Amino acid sequence: MYEGFKKDHVVRIKDFTLDEMSTVFDLAEKMIPVAEGKKKNDDLEGKLLATLFFEPSTRTRLSFEGAMKRMSGSCIGFAEPGTSSAKKGETLADTIRVAAGYSDIIVLRHPHEGAAQLAANFSDVPIINAGDGAGRHPTQTLLDLFTIKREKGSISGNHIGIAGDLKYGRTVHSLTNALSMYDTELTFISPPSLRMPDEITDALGRKGIEHKEVDGIEDVLDELDILYMTRIQRERFPSEQDYEKVAKTYLIEKHMLEDEMCKEDLTIMHPLPRVDEIAADVDLTSHAKYFDQAANGVPIRMALLKLLSEG
Ligand code: NCD
Repeated sequence: MYEGFKKDHVVRIKDFTLDEMSTVFDLAEKMIPVAEGKKKNDDLEGKLLATLFFEPSTRTRLSFEGAMKRMSGSCIGFAEPGTSSAKKGETLADTIRVAAGYSDIIVLRHPHEGAAQLAANFSDVPIINAGDGAGRHPTQTLLDLFTIKREKGSISGNHIGIAGDLKYGRTVHSLTNALSMYDTELTFISPPSLRMPDEITDALGRKGIEHKEVDGIEDVLDELDILYMTRIQRERFPSEQDYEKVAKTYLIEKHMLEDEMCKEDLTIMHPLPRVDEIAADVDLTSHAKYFDQAANGVPIRMALLKLLSEG
């Protein structure tokens, strides 16, 4: 039993205390050798995870399933909702009640904002929100914070630039909510039509967190400790025409990171998938940390699965 962790479900990062996040990070640190396959672990032996993915995923689903299996647990689920009874018109509430009867923990990704909360209302087993439409993505945030901590030594004290689709991007909504619990300086970089929702910036204002909004990455690049890039969320735009207006707004290339143009230890992150916002020539620079970030998803999800299954 972990004293510092008292969650039944993982729906919103806002529901976490700083203590609970620290508990996850400390345990994740210990799980790294297990995540890398260097140490055996059977903490989840006999446990069954259901992964219900109503939207595409690579990292989130594979890292949850990989985490479960590396800890000797098993997985059931679907990654293609067309093959589930949702196709026949089954409600999410019924699907969840059924899956809760078959498994010990459910990981849910769904196109509707609020779907994870609805699932939690109907489930006897822990629900983990793996992304609900343009809403939230709390486990991505935990691995983002874990990455910042590992790269920079601490989360507080950094000037973090968050760039791209701040309107529809669920990763940046959860990340900003979490960063408001630390002492950071935030700059939001987006086209005017894709600004961070007022609900989120208002909450920053209430907490006295310094933040500004700019249109261009160059406006702020040399001041940043971390640049968090995101993809323009094509699938969430009302029309392809609206998407085309802002597609390809940002592209980071190696030549933009030379000499005095950014801090020597600037860390570039991205939840992935990248589409066209970071050029491949950046991958070989010391700034690129997005693949380490993705790898951090496994120990973080191991920690969460262990904490929830023992809770
Ligand atoms: C993100 C998501 O699904 O919100 N992907 C992920 O889980 N790493 C980011 C995205 O799709 O742009």
